[in-house]
Amino acid sequence: PFDWYREMRERAPVRYDPTRKVWDVFRYDDVKEMLDDDERFSVSPRNASGFQEPEGEEAGVMLDTMLLQDPPRHDELRGVVDEEFSPRTIRELEPRIRELTTELLDDILDNGDEIDLVSEFAYPLPVIVIAELLGVPTEDREQFKTWSDAIVSAASEDESGAEFVERQEEMRQEMAFYFIQLMEDRRENPQDDLISTLVTAEIDGEPLTHREILGTCILLLVAGNITTTNLITNAMRSFDEVDAVDELAGDDRALTTAIEEVLRYRSPVQAMTRVAMEDVTMHGETIEEGDQIVVWLGSGNRDERQFDDADEFRPDRTPNQHFGFGYGTHYCLGAPLARLEAKVALSELLSRVSNVTIPETTLEPTRSSFIYGVESLPIRFDRE
Ligand code: HEM
Repeated sequence: PFDWYREMRERAPVRYDPTRKVWDVFRYDDVKEMLDDDERFSVSPRNASGFQEPEGEEAGVMLDTMLLQDPPRHDELRGVVDEEFSPRTIRELEPRIRELTTELLDDILDNGDEIDLVSEFAYPLPVIVIAELLGVPTEDREQFKTWSDAIVSAASEDESGAEFVERQEEMRQEMAFYFIQLMEDRRENPQDDLISTLVTAEIDGEPLTHREILGTCILLLVAGNITTTNLITNAMRSFDEVDAVDELAGDDRALTTAIEEVLRYRSPVQAMTRVAMEDVTMHGETIEEGDQIVVWLGSGNRDERQFDDADEFRPDRTPNQHFGFGYGTHYCLGAPLARLEAKVALSELLSRVSNVTIPETTLEPTRSSFIYGVESLPIRFDRE
């Protein structure tokens, strides 16, 4: 997408696409302005012209979560779990994340000198970590992973679109049912986990609604998995391209800086959407109240107005005020966790392999245009 972004930043930094019926915004300063102003630019699709509320008690529960709510409800909902995701709390998880990473690496490095980095490592790790934080018992982990897979998967070749939608809906319902049972259990016996935090929390003396609790469970699962997977995978690709793998192995400080550059250069989340709450004129174009806007984080992150040699991957780039985790009110809640997982995953992996190469195969991009990554990434290495 990067050539397209560059062209658009020059030619049409704010433009309406009649096919998708949305506005696109490409420049760094405009991205920042929009994400910083939740009075004029709402995060809730409910404010879009022609929006129809999905029918059913548990349909569209994500609409009730912090991700798709404006202040004041946003701040109240985020307040319930903010402490659990603070850098300080997350730092304490490092030994446990290292242990889970090591267990996984023991399994996969055992049988050969080539792995698919995505399916064998970068994908399972964040699922295991968030399952544990939520409070999913170890024995349900496999089942949990199946649901998580299904939700992010695309249709397989031998099924029709309708069959795919039906299968996904079935999985969604099974997972919702599972979470509801877990919620009930934790109401009776609260534990030290996120589901307990959600079911026992009160805002102004009132518990969260059923939809808010269920939606938040699903949000934490969905928001953190495929994104972190792609951060780890995009990092390996980028390090390999500039021959930085050996240099970064064993140097966690340099690795931490390089991960920020991956978030900029190959942002796992390329775009977010907003809805205009009033008519807004930018670069001579008028966005009307109720119009939907796609805010291209991935383009802002390549804007030469903000970054020198923006199209170059520079592992030691500082400062690096990228939008990889968004900006403003909805700045990623899970950023400290994602950073820690990526650092531990890459540092453990690189300490156990050497001479990493990525075979010259055609890489298949992820199927969603908002998510940047590849479906699989074979890597070859020597075991240390
Ligand atoms: C929000 C990216 C990992 C939970 C966001 C946003 C971005 C983002 C761009 C802003 C959304 C917006 O402005 O509309 C990423 C990336 C990740 C990652 C690139 C990994 C590399 C995680 C993890 C979790 C998480 C691990 C939790 C387990 C959330 C939540 C929000 C959010 C709850 C909504 C925050 C709010 O509305 O206040 N993320 N994320 N994310 N992310 Fe992440």
